[in-house]
Amino acid sequence: MTLASSQTPAPAAAEPTRRDFLYLATAAVGTVGAAATLWPLIDQMNPDAATEAAAGPVDIDISQIQPGQQIVVLWSARPVFIVNRPKEALDALRTPAHLALLSDPNSTAHQQPDYATNWSRSIKPEILALVGVCTHLGCIPKFWPQPSPTEPAANWPGGYFCPCHGSKYDLAGRVFVGVPAPYNLPVPPYHFPNDKTLRVGENPPGSNFDFGSVLQV
Ligand code: FES
Repeated sequence: MTLASSQTPAPAAAEPTRRDFLYLATAAVGTVGAAATLWPLIDQMNPDAATEAAAGPVDIDISQIQPGQQIVVLWSARPVFIVNRPKEALDALRTPAHLALLSDPNSTAHQQPDYATNWSRSIKPEILALVGVCTHLGCIPKFWPQPSPTEPAANWPGGYFCPCHGSKYDLAGRVFVGVPAPYNLPVPPYHFPNDKTLRVGENPPGSNFDFGSVLQV
């Protein structure tokens, strides 16, 4: 698939594959920051091809991520979103009105390791790590953290919006009801080997979570 053809919507009669949509969405990654004035995106694709090919761990310096910022790294040939969530964003994740909008608010589906099966879907509430692949057909959802009455959807609370078919996720990667995506965004194996480093692709000591065991990625 060429870049030019990837920017043309697929014909309705053609049944796209998840792989097609991943390519389609990859072409759009660089535009995400346009919607994020307060929450700028920093594309930080890891250049180590050998690490990528081996799906080995990737270290990220989280001390450089300001509250409200997201960076994107590549792990196991997939984008991984790392977000520093400010307190107000965390507070919004727990309100009953917000939880009522979600398909799986308590993350009961196996889309994350046990150590991220909690209200924030993370080890440290302020630091979020998600595999950025829509659970519908594999597009890369857009980081759209600002609440808005109109954009990208009515009464938008902030989160991730998938432009392919309109699936919506909150700032914990939990999917909204009434959208095509069936599951929350997956959480990768990760841990913090020290205070300033997040390591994607490796579990905390004592955990044996297998990313291949998640229901959908
Ligand atoms: Fe269809 Fe995301 S791929 S909504």
